Amino acid sequence: MNITLIGSGYVGLVTGTCFAELGNQVVCLDVDKRKIDLLNSGGVPIYEPGLQELIARNAAAGRLRFTTDVQDAVAHGDVLFIAVGTPPDEDGSADLKHVLAVARDIGRWMQGFKIVVNKSTVPVGTADKVAQAISAELEARGHSPNQAGPQDGNIPSFAVVSNPEFLKEGAAVEDFMRPDRIVIGVPGSEAGNRAREAMRVLYAPFNRNHDRTYFMDVRSAEFTKYAANSMLASRISFMNELANLAEQVGADIEMVRHGIGSDPRIGFNFLYAGVGFGGSCFPKDIQALIKIGQEHNSRLRILEAVNEVNDRQKLVLTDKIIRRFGDSLKGRHFALWGLAFKPNTDDMREAPSRAIIKALVERGATICAYDPIATEVAKQCLAQDFAAAPELLKAITYSDSHFEALNSADALVIVTDWKSFKSPDFSEVKARLSEPLLFDGRNLYEPEAMAELGIEYYGIGRSN
Ligand code: UGA
Repeated sequence: MNITLIGSGYVGLVTGTCFAELGNQVVCLDVDKRKIDLLNSGGVPIYEPGLQELIARNAAAGRLRFTTDVQDAVAHGDVLFIAVGTPPDEDGSADLKHVLAVARDIGRWMQGFKIVVNKSTVPVGTADKVAQAISAELEARGHSPNQAGPQDGNIPSFAVVSNPEFLKEGAAVEDFMRPDRIVIGVPGSEAGNRAREAMRVLYAPFNRNHDRTYFMDVRSAEFTKYAANSMLASRISFMNELANLAEQVGADIEMVRHGIGSDPRIGFNFLYAGVGFGGSCFPKDIQALIKIGQEHNSRLRILEAVNEVNDRQKLVLTDKIIRRFGDSLKGRHFALWGLAFKPNTDDMREAPSRAIIKALVERGATICAYDPIATEVAKQCLAQDFAAAPELLKAITYSDSHFEALNSADALVIVTDWKSFKSPDFSEVKARLSEPLLFDGRNLYEPEAMAELGIEYYGIGRSN
């Protein structure tokens, strides 16, 4: 099939590349010429395991190309995926300006029947707005678009489909290639039926063993994406709140996690207490859904609490540090392992490390940070965070060795659960720290094992 990805960011690139890998002819479009030049010269603008090799292979095979030419890209695809950003507006709702600009471009250049698929995370009802924007352009071109029935030949007609993505950063290629479900919302029209058939063919390679596709109406598909992320984020905030209580009552949240996760109705995934969730999806999508609720006079109280708990949770590790050292951290020096919001990515958006570093540095501490890949991105983000007090940036240094970051530090603070942090040589850790003291924001180690090693250990929700 001929496929076009409009928007070559994280979602567009992964989706386009994986469809090319399955044998489709794929064009990825972006307005950012630097990004397209980089891709055309073999570079990849994001860090995602496995992606670079896949891009190189499919580009070399002639199945994947990159362009800034909108007309060419729209002409190429029978299926046009919209995969542009929906950043939060000032009030938290998703800003649709990029999505609607793409819709207008499609309407301006399309010929014949096009299936327009929304991959961007968008509020319920956006597909209708996309359809209106395309129709308005077609009318301006002198066509009277008929969404109810695809026309013959080159007369433009279209169907707008919702196909939300459920990719996790750091595991996106794997998630795409082995989806647990494929959600597709199609309109109930003749054009919708034709789109449904085409989507079935496009996703057929994933359904060989059993059918993972859920066809539904467009609005339910749009809603499913927000519902999934909200449910996952709710589990995390719920566990974080329980973890804080567990500390008070002398229970261990890790034991509790095993105890409840073994109930298949609950399950083990996404029950890890820690320093809160970050990233480009959960915080933004929750805000957007809260806003949608407000607009429809249907307040989402649980989600409001999920957010509040998460903001607070980003500082629980700092609270423990303050309880141990006192309110002023002047003269204290900390080693910090992990800057990215989670492992296997260099993404620093809403990363708990930013809140933690800010709180420590504002109290007078100095920090030496180590992250396997996010350091350069972190430097830029922290420069923004400290824009009002740039002199404080001097308090943050970076190391390219996790052991060297420990040198003469008063404590080790772990913020991201990178695999490489899971079994360090603890004798080396102790030897380099000025005190054997560890604040573990991801519960990577067992309190008993730490006690045996002579390390003073503070986890999240553990019986210390
Ligand atoms: C999330 C969803 O998991 C994807 O299904 C979805 O497609 C994606 O958002 C999106 O909307 O694009 P992602 O943000 O990449 O994916 O990251 P997750 O692996 O879900 O982790 C989110 C945050 O939750 C991280 O900060 C992580 O450290 C934290 N987390 C996760 C916990 O604190 N505890 C857990 O048990 C699990």
